[in-house]
Formats: sequence, C-alpha cells, structure tokens
Amino acid sequence: MARRRLKLVVMVIVMVNFFIFIIISRHSSQDKNGLHKVRIPSKPFWSKLVPNVAYCNRQQQILDLQNNHVLAANFSAADLPDWLNETHSTSDPCQPNFRVTTQVKDYNSLPVRFKDFLISMHCRSYPVIVDQPDICKEPPFLLLAVKSLAPHFDRRQAIRQSWGRAGAIANRTVVTVFLLGNATSGDHHPNLSGMLRYESVRHRDIIQWDYRDSFFNLTVKEVLFLEWIQTRCPGARFIFKGDDDVFVNTHRILDFLGGLSEPKARDLFVGDVITNAGPHRDKKVKYFIPESMYTGAYPPYAGGGGYLYSGDIAARLHSVSRHVALYPIDDVYTGMCLRKLGLAPEKHKGFRTFDIEEKYRSNPCAYKSLMLVHPRTPQEMIQIWAWLSSPGLRC
Ligand SMILES: *[C@@H]1O[C@H](CO)[C@@H](O)[C@H](O)[C@H]1NC(C)=O
Ligand SMILES: *[C@@H]1O[C@H](CO)[C@@H](O)[C@H](O)[C@H]1NC(C)=O
Ligand SMILES: *[C@@H]1O[C@H](CO)[C@@H](O)[C@H](O)[C@H]1NC(C)=O
Ligand SMILES: *[C@@H]1O[C@H](CO)[C@@H](O)[C@H](O)[C@H]1NC(C)=O
Ligand SMILES: *[C@@H]1O[C@H](CO)[C@@H](O)[C@H](O)[C@H]1NC(C)=O
Ligand SMILES: *[C@@H]1O[C@H](CO)[C@@H](O)[C@H](O)[C@H]1NC(C)=O
Repeated sequence: MARRRLKLVVMVIVMVNFFIFIIISRHSSQDKNGLHKVRIPSKPFWSKLVPNVAYCNRQQQILDLQNNHVLAANFSAADLPDWLNETHSTSDPCQPNFRVTTQVKDYNSLPVRFKDFLISMHCRSYPVIVDQPDICKEPPFLLLAVKSLAPHFDRRQAIRQSWGRAGAIANRTVVTVFLLGNATSGDHHPNLSGMLRYESVRHRDIIQWDYRDSFFNLTVKEVLFLEWIQTRCPGARFIFKGDDDVFVNTHRILDFLGGLSEPKARDLFVGDVITNAGPHRDKKVKYFIPESMYTGAYPPYAGGGGYLYSGDIAARLHSVSRHVALYPIDDVYTGMCLRKLGLAPEKHKGFRTFDIEEKYRSNPCAYKSLMLVHPRTPQEMIQIWAWLSSPGLRC
C-alpha cells in the first residue's frame, strides 16, 4: 500500500516537472522570437511639456528645465513660457514668497503648516548658531547624526550614555552630533537657549541652525546637514542619520560596515525601505499632502527613523539636492534625491522602524542582530545598551 502511494507521488512529481519544462521552454522560445522582431513604438516617446497643476511637481519641472543644458543653451529667459519663471519674483530665495498664495490652487483653504512651508520653500540656507567645526578633525569611520529638538535634553543624554557614545568603539572612530533648529516662541516653546548653550559647551556635539524646527522643516535640516558634512566632515566613511527616539545597535552597524566589499561600501544606502507609496490624502494623517501640492507616486525611500549611507553618497546627495525641489517630508525628499542620482535605497531587515513584536521587546537577544528599533524611550535605550554590552550575554 505504502509503496503504491509512493509510486503515485513520484509519478505526479515527474508529470508536474514535465509540464513546468514545457511551459518554460515555450516561454523562452517566445522570448527568442521576440528578439528578432523590430518593435515600432505606437506612440511618440516624448510628450509636450505642460505645467503640472500640483505646486511641488511644477517646481521640479522648472528646476529640471533650468538644469537642462541642451535647453538652457538655446532659450533665453524671454522665450520661456510665463509659468517657467514663476519663482523669479525676487532675487533672494529666502525672502518670503507671497506669490504662492495665488499660484497654489487652494492656498487659502490649506492648513497653516502648508502655507508656512510654501512661503519659505525656496530658501535652503539658514545661519548656523552653534557649530562644532573641529569635531571631525580625525575623520570618523562612522558619523552618527541625530535629528533632535531643543527640549529633548533627556533623549540626547541617553544617547550619549548608550548607543551614541562617541570615541573608539570596536577599534573604530565614532563621532556623534545632534542636529537642531530653533524651537521658537512662536511655537510656544519655552526659552531654553541658556540650557542649550550650557549643553553645547559641556558636550560639544550640538549643531544648531537658525530656522524654525518643525516637522515640515525637517527637509531643511536634511539639506543643511548635507552641506555641513561637506564643509565640516567630508572624511566620514559612513553616516547614520536618524531620530532621537530610536535605539541603534552601534556594534552591529560597525560589524556590518566592516564586512562590506569596496564597491558595496561606496554606494551604500540602507534602511527600512518603503516602496510603492504615495502621498496620504486623508487630512487626519500626519503625512497628509493635498493634491494641489503633489501628485504621483513616491520613489522608494528609507523611513526617516534611521538609515545608513556612505560618505561618497553623502557628497553626491549634496550636489544633486540643489536640483530637487524641497518636499515637506524629509525621508521622501531624500528618496527623490537618490532617484535623481539613479540610485535606490536598499532594504535591510535589521532596521525596524515599526518596532519588533511585543513579546520580544524585553528579550536582550532580540536586539543582538538588529541595527535599529523604533521607538524607544531614554530609559529603554540605556537598558538595551547595558544588555548588549554585558559580557555575560549568551544568545
Ligand atoms: C541650439 O542652437 C544651435 C545654434 O544656435 C543649433 O545648432 C542647435 O540645433 C540648437 N539645438 C536645439 C535642441 O534646438
Ligand atoms: C518672466 O521673465 C521675463 C524676463 O525676466 C519677464 O519679462 C516676464 O514678465 C516674466 N514673467 C512672469 C510671469 O513673471
Ligand atoms: C585595531 O586597529 C589597529 C590599528 O588600526 C590594528 O592594528 C588592530 O589590529 C585593530 N584591532 C582589531 C581587534 O581589529
Ligand atoms: C530663535 O527664535 C527666537 C524667537 O522665538 C528668537 O528670539 C531667537 O533670536 C532665535 N534665534 C536664536 C539663535 O535663538
Ligand atoms: C532667553 O534666555 C537667554 C539666557 O537665559 C537670554 O539671554 C535671552 O535674552 C532670552 N531670550 C528671550 C527672547 O527672552
Ligand atoms: C521653516 O523655517 C522658516 C525659517 O525659520 C520659517 O519661516 C518657516 O515658517 C518654517 N516652515 C515651517 C513649515 O515650519
């Protein structure tokens, strides 16, 4: 009985394989025939340039045309259609651009954060208030850059005492910096400038620029940081950039980086990559973007909780970012810059921006092979770091 059943199973497997073989060979012969066919496009592969109604898309079209050398050589400003110089109202891009109030279709009914973004979106340069010009005197193997907000003193201190401990870790130079804007009284922040001054003198790891630190201005932080790397830390081999509410397994990251081949290391950009996403149209979502601002899909992008890239990529992102219109969501913006470079971020399952399963959260071994977990409180950061640093940890 058992033997007969076995025979039957074997026969079925043989037949299934045979059919798969037939299907595959039919497919490949079709492909071969296809190679000899001359394909004539049924439609033109170019299209007439029409202005996009969505403001951010249109700003990108304008930048693309301004940076197109073929067109730039043959057109003078006077030949350009009017919509192409709609941004040229003032020569200083950091003056508030009130023309957006009429150029964005439903400007008046937009939530105020969009109005604020639109009015200042052409400005990419703000004065630095606190800098650490010599922090990369010895070029670090890994630069940890943490997006923080002035009042988050406890998060920064927990990071210093745990995963962001600067100096030599596992024989590599690690430098940690905190990236801050200005927590303004306009946003009802208390005046913390005295405490911040104390902190930056004490720890020498604060970089602060004079612009309003808000969610939609995180892209400004990104652009300013890319500029900062080129002027203050161009020798950094690798850069981690992330939020101040994540736990980073610095040991694991250093191991991973140490094991990369040279070409892989040069083009490195890894994180928790989101593909096939687009703007949220639900007004209640933090990431809501109205259709008058942006239409179309998002490029693949690494969630802003934290991602890791090479110093080489940082330099390329810096130069391409001038050609990419600012977008109010910083991680999507970085994805847009990568796409412009012809690159895409790579997903690594060690980046858990959506946390790990609840039942593993208090298990020290769960963190050993991970690179990033979000979110974690300051106390949790210190606890997890102690677990991972314990010589007795057996997993
Ligand atoms: C640009 O102008 C040059 C000389 O004026 C001409 O030779 C060339 O064909 C033009 N190119 C385009 C794309 O119009
Ligand atoms: C576009 O620029 C040209 C030349 O600077 C100017 O004459 C024209 O008025 C501008 N158009 C608009 C819509 O601003
Ligand atoms: C640490 O670095 C030094 C000099 O770069 C090297 O000689 C040594 O072998 C390294 N040690 C380890 C454990 O990697
Ligand atoms: C930050 O914003 C406040 C207004 O809220 C302003 O008084 C201050 O000058 C700004 N800059 C610095 C360096 O604090
Ligand atoms: C904020 O505090 C600092 C130091 O305590 C003080 O010098 C500064 O004038 C204050 N700024 C404002 C806007 O009150
Ligand atoms: C971004 O910062 C600038 C400069 O401080 C400010 O004018 C603008 O309102 C800010 N934008 C947002 C969306 O907060």
